[in-house]
Amino acid sequence: MPSDLGWAAGGWYHSFELPGGTRIDGHVSLEVLRERYARFPIPADLSGKRVLDIGAWDGWFTFEAERRGAQVTAVDCVELESFRQIHSRLGSKADYRILDVFDLRNAGLGRFDYVFFLGVLYHLKHPLLGLEIVCALTRETALVDSYVTDGDTWRERAGETPTMEFYETDELAGRLDNWHGPSVSCLMALCRAAGFARAELLYAGGDFASVACHRRWEPVPAGADEPAPELLTVVNHADYGINFASQGDQYLTCWFNCERKQLDRKELRLEVEGFGAPVLFLRRDQGARWVANFRLPPGLAPGWKDVRLRLAHSGFGEPVRIAVDIPPRAEGLAIREVCGGRTWSRNQVLPGDEGMLSVWVAGLPDNADRANLRVYLGAGRLKIDFVGPPDASGSRQINARVSNELQPGSHNLKIAIGEVTAVFSRLVEVIS
Ligand SMILES: C[S@@+](CC[C@H](N)C(=O)[O-])C[C@H]1O[C@@H](n2cnc3c(N)ncnc32)[C@H](O)[C@@H]1O
Repeated sequence: MPSDLGWAAGGWYHSFELPGGTRIDGHVSLEVLRERYARFPIPADLSGKRVLDIGAWDGWFTFEAERRGAQVTAVDCVELESFRQIHSRLGSKADYRILDVFDLRNAGLGRFDYVFFLGVLYHLKHPLLGLEIVCALTRETALVDSYVTDGDTWRERAGETPTMEFYETDELAGRLDNWHGPSVSCLMALCRAAGFARAELLYAGGDFASVACHRRWEPVPAGADEPAPELLTVVNHADYGINFASQGDQYLTCWFNCERKQLDRKELRLEVEGFGAPVLFLRRDQGARWVANFRLPPGLAPGWKDVRLRLAHSGFGEPVRIAVDIPPRAEGLAIREVCGGRTWSRNQVLPGDEGMLSVWVAGLPDNADRANLRVYLGAGRLKIDFVGPPDASGSRQINARVSNELQPGSHNLKIAIGEVTAVFSRLVEVIS
């Protein structure tokens, strides 16, 4: 916030108008506070909504959201008597917690429809991590405002690489708790990189900017009649499996069909369980097939999730499922059949570039994939290329590569997932 820079500690920061006509004139006037709030693209009536105000200070934004019907949780890393005083004068029911933003991950507060993250970002040593935590706590929209370096000149700088100044000591306004000064474009980019689907600039001027960070895509526009892209495959960018960890910094790689000759990545609208995922990269793969990478939306609850894709002017295509935080568990595994993928001869395989072993296994969990399954032939672990869907008998085909390093001869075959292992009843012969 520009207005608190150089502001001495002590006294009131926010202004208030209390029942009975008492006025408190703080450092920031009521007019400015109301002007800031009026920019927020959130409903005027917040009845039934949960609001989290991080860095509440004296609490004007907390009490304003409560006045509008919200159930509010206010958080600050320091306890302020001024907050408690207004809380009591107003008979507020706001839940006041003394917590650092970095402790909110494990505070068990649940999710909030709207999160206020006002004037806090530039105070954080780890701003992107702070925004990721804010994103994970948000169901709809977070309001993020910050000190910025180019509030008056950002338009002229459009197209330039986003920048962030770093203040190691007291370079910014002589204060030790100011760490960063992002440019306006950097502030918006940080919000998207943290996992918000969209960053909408509400205001920039002087050394201040305000951004609405939306977790959902805008509604499909009326009359949107483009064919939906056909989502083919969705995998974890790190291991090509279908399992993801909600706590990790994880990315989705998606293949899809789209008949367009030209496609800009900004037209893609991927969502996971209703949360939009910003696109990072797009390229044409082959013909009508494209491949794109997206960040996994932060804060997903454990379970199977539908991933859906649309374009800016199309509806969504059919979903593809991914597993989030589901441990791969099997009761028992049985290896039903084994053959060489090139020779198709039973229990025999040719090693080398195209040497592939196909194994049919019963008992695999739905979220078995090429990363959490393990296939051992003799002493070596084989790299898995493919895990098929269950056939009529419930067995799934696994294709694994047999390298030239495997000695010709007869070997034990073992399949494992989690703690459960199955050993094939026959030996598998590596032929030369
Ligand atoms: C500039 S004031 C902003 C007050 C109010 N949100 C506003 O915009 O008018 C920054 C507030 O963030 C709080 N704060 C700073 N770092 C924090 C952190 N790591 N976790 C929680 N609160 C923090 C400060 O104690 C202070 O109340």
